[in-house]
Order: sequence, then structure tokens, then C-alpha cells
Amino acid sequence: METQIIKEEQVGFDNKLREAALAVKNGGLVAFPTETVYGLGANAFDDLACKNIYKAKGRPSDNPLIVHVSDMDMAFSLIREYDERFLKLSEAFWSGPISFVLKKSDKVCQTVSAGLDTVAIRMPNHKLALELIKQAGVPIAAPSANISGRPSPTRSEHVVFDLSSRCDYILCANDFPIGVESTVLDLSTEETVILRPGFVTANMIKEKTGIEVTSHDADKTVSVPKSPGTKYKHYSPKARVYMVEQDFSSSDIEGFAKEKGVSVDKTRFLSYADDVEMAKNLFADFRDADKDGFELILVKPAKDGELLEANLNRLKKACED
Ligand code: TXA
Ligand code: MG
Repeated sequence: METQIIKEEQVGFDNKLREAALAVKNGGLVAFPTETVYGLGANAFDDLACKNIYKAKGRPSDNPLIVHVSDMDMAFSLIREYDERFLKLSEAFWSGPISFVLKKSDKVCQTVSAGLDTVAIRMPNHKLALELIKQAGVPIAAPSANISGRPSPTRSEHVVFDLSSRCDYILCANDFPIGVESTVLDLSTEETVILRPGFVTANMIKEKTGIEVTSHDADKTVSVPKSPGTKYKHYSPKARVYMVEQDFSSSDIEGFAKEKGVSVDKTRFLSYADDVEMAKNLFADFRDADKDGFELILVKPAKDGELLEANLNRLKKACED
């Protein structure tokens, strides 16, 4: 398959975006930027097109997709029941980095929800994403635009590297995203539960809407996980990743590497000044380390900040064997 790579700064970008939107509407695959990470999109009403997302990524078929919308009418077309919390939360946080899991309507194709009775919906806060959805005129199902298991793409070149010849278009933005995927919040039962931590935290939700939220990141251990994606190995570079303590310094690298049986010159030490910088760069730094042939990556995470939980969640997953 030939992939057209379209850059935001190129002449005629608007026409190309229109072409890409038409391709999505008609069953094609288009990778596009969002404010969190890049996504690989297909028409959420087109079962075959959504199946092609799984093929292109090598994604396990029981891991459902988030559906991206550009307005509230589109969102309502995807859900079955009116939910007071959804109205409050979408008003407070959309467009933005939070996805809501709700009981799905019949319009959502089976493949999107991977057999579940629910659908995850989000309105991304990125002008190219919103424009693509609006012009396609249909909601766009999109997981992160990486080959399954690799770090989520936070730069257009990551998408080009993973998905060239596996999709119809790649839209490349000029800006860099937040770098961690959206918060996934379950509203399908009475309890309001965070299934995946992200930029929007339980505190922010409580502060802005008064809604009490439970965190639920341990669902990897239960036999039927509430959010199927959380049970898979994720975000991993080829190199082995270890998290180190806050008092770790460059002088400790040699000893640590030796203990793991790796030479110092094959060991990359990453350390982050603050949570925003860490979120923005972690996945890109993983990919760079792989490209440069490192075998061991030691990460000293930013020690606090609003993105602490999301950062540690992604890092710990990368550390798992
Ligand atoms: O920021 C993001 O959310 C990015 C951008 C592209 O929007 N997308 C993203 O998609 O991270 P993905 O497929 O990599 O992760 C989706 C997560 C998975 O953990 C999946 O299991 C969960 O959302 N999910 C999707 N639909 C669900 C549902 N109906 N019930 C529970 N969890 C769901
Ligand atoms: Mg992903």
C-alpha cells in the first residue's frame, strides 16, 4: 500500500487534508496528530475499515478502540443512555485528553468495541484532528499510531517509521503533543473509575465537577480486565528498561550496568527535570535509544507534578518483562 505523508507546513495541505478525510469516510486508514499522541484512524461505523486498524498495528483483537468525535451530536450518536456525569465531564474537559467509557449504541461497529457492550469516546484538542473528523463527517476510531507493543508515537517521524505502507495517509503536525495517552474514565457503571491514568487526574475531576473517582490501575491482575488494553505489554523499547531511585546519579551507571551484564557504552541514562518534560520526551527517548543500539535504559522519573501518575504508569509498563 502506498502511504501519502502530508506535512502541515506544505503547500496545498488543506486539499490533502480533505482527501484524507474522504479516504477515512470511504473505509481507508489515516494517521493523524492529537494533543496526546498520534492516532491511526478509521470510520467507526465501518467494521471492515476498523478490522484493518488491527491488521496494520498487529493489535490483539480483544483490545477495543477509542472513538474520536468533533462535536457533541456525534458523541451522542455513539451512546445508548443519557448520563448526567458525561454531560458534566465533557463540558468540563472536552475538547481534551480524557476518554469516557459509556454503553454503546447500535451504530458503533462490533470491531471498535471488541465485543464489549461499551464504547470509549473522546473529543481531541487538536485542530488537525478536529478538522479531519469534521470533514470526514463520521466519528473516527483510533488507537495510538504505533505497531502494537512499541512506544506510542509522539513525533510524526515515529508514525512514518512504524506505519509507512500500512495506511493511506499520515498527517504530520508542527507541534509536539503532551506525550501520554488520554485518561480513560469508566462511566458505564454507577462507580466512576479511572481505567488508565492520563493528563486529567482524579483531583482535577473532583475539583471541576465534584465527581468522586476511584483509581483502578490494578485491573491487569483480574481475569476479565475492565480495560482490555491494560493487560498487554506496552510502550516498550527493544532495550531493557529499569526505573532508578531519585538519589541515583551518573556515577552509579557503571555499577548498575555491570550488575545487569551490559557494558556502560550500551547503557542510556534518562533523567527528567519535571513531569511535563518527562511526558513529552519519554517515548521519543525510548525510540532514540533503540535507534542508537542501546541495550539498557535507566530512567530517573520526574519526582512530582500533575503527570506523575501517568508517567509512572507508562514507565512501569515499559519495565515489565
Ligand atoms: O490519547 C489517546 O487516548 C490516544 C489518542 C490517539 O487518542 N489513543 C490511545 O488509544 O491511546 P489506544 O488504543 O492505544 O488505547 C486505548 C485504551 C486501551 O487501554 C483500551 O483497552 C481502552 O482504551 N478502551 C477502549 N475502549 C474501551 C472500552 N469500551 N472499555 C474499556 N476500555 C476501553
Ligand atoms: Mg496504544
